[in-house]
Amino acid sequence: MNRLELRRPDDWHLHLRDGDMLPAVVPASARCFGRAIVMPNLKPPVRTVADARAYRERILAARPEGSDFEPLMTLYLTETTTTDDIRAAAECDFVHAVKYYPAGATTNSDSGVRNLECVHPVIEAMEKYGLPLLMHGEVTDGEIDVFDREAVFIERHLEKLRTRFPGLKLVLEHATTADAIDYVRSAPEPIAATITVHHLMYNRNALFDGGLRPHHYCLPLIKREHHRQALVEAATSGNPRFFLGTDSAPHPKHAKESDCGCAGIYSAPAAIELYAAVFEAAGALERLEEFASLHGPDFYGLPRNEDRIVLERSPWAVPTGIPAGNHQIVPLAAGEQLAWRVKSGS
Ligand code: DOR
Ligand code: ZN
Repeated sequence: MNRLELRRPDDWHLHLRDGDMLPAVVPASARCFGRAIVMPNLKPPVRTVADARAYRERILAARPEGSDFEPLMTLYLTETTTTDDIRAAAECDFVHAVKYYPAGATTNSDSGVRNLECVHPVIEAMEKYGLPLLMHGEVTDGEIDVFDREAVFIERHLEKLRTRFPGLKLVLEHATTADAIDYVRSAPEPIAATITVHHLMYNRNALFDGGLRPHHYCLPLIKREHHRQALVEAATSGNPRFFLGTDSAPHPKHAKESDCGCAGIYSAPAAIELYAAVFEAAGALERLEEFASLHGPDFYGLPRNEDRIVLERSPWAVPTGIPAGNHQIVPLAAGEQLAWRVKSGS
């Protein structure tokens, strides 16, 4: 097969940043995705509908000429978020979800939640209004091994939350373990998980392949091979609870290649092509459209995109650096040769 036509995909988990970074990264997502769920972990975070409205305007202004890429905004859940904030979000037409970060779990998560019980009234309002809760599902306790933090989160918190709020729409973001896949597959509805391309491509050896690899460092960490295989199996299974979310998270090169490097992998410049490579290697290219273009909008209750993109077998090399203001961003698979490429203008 040399050509693959898909209903236009969406990215259900994306970091676009702000300032100089924004115009440098929006075009990479807009080139093939119709919409993206935009993460709110700016500094300061996107806490209210007013913050989300202003950020959305900045994203729209950073789109390339002629693009109708649509940012779907999220609010950052803090211990001071109110039920009025949730009602306002549910009533406006551009906020689509609320993001939970455990305080201290990852980049710009200091304003996140320390005690989930504190935010139960707010979660109850989300359940009532049908506003999805997007979870960074990791515990942060220092005594838990960093590779086990997702599995422990599921055991300690997720099950309780499901039982307490059975109608809450919940997305376990960037699932990285077989434990997460098993949980999402068997939990009562409504629950789903996004899966990144880097967690589908690599196991944890990639972090130490011939030396320390900062461009493979993200949170949650990439895990053992059997977890990667469980993710590939879920993504290519046709199960509507699993859909595409890149977690593309740009950081300047110097901030990644540092003695205390930032977590985050910038996959947007080749995201759909890399997913295509994973699906092809699994013998499941015909399943890519469901995962990339159908399951996400169906879960969020949004229309599927009407237009299509075309992927062609046309070898190209991922750029080694993307300029952003005075900096460079190193994309995932920098300098590597890929088989599939989105036909420009499609
Ligand atoms: O690796 C990550 N980077 N994980 C996250 O949860 C946040 C993200 C970022 O914002 O850089
Ligand atoms: Zn993220």
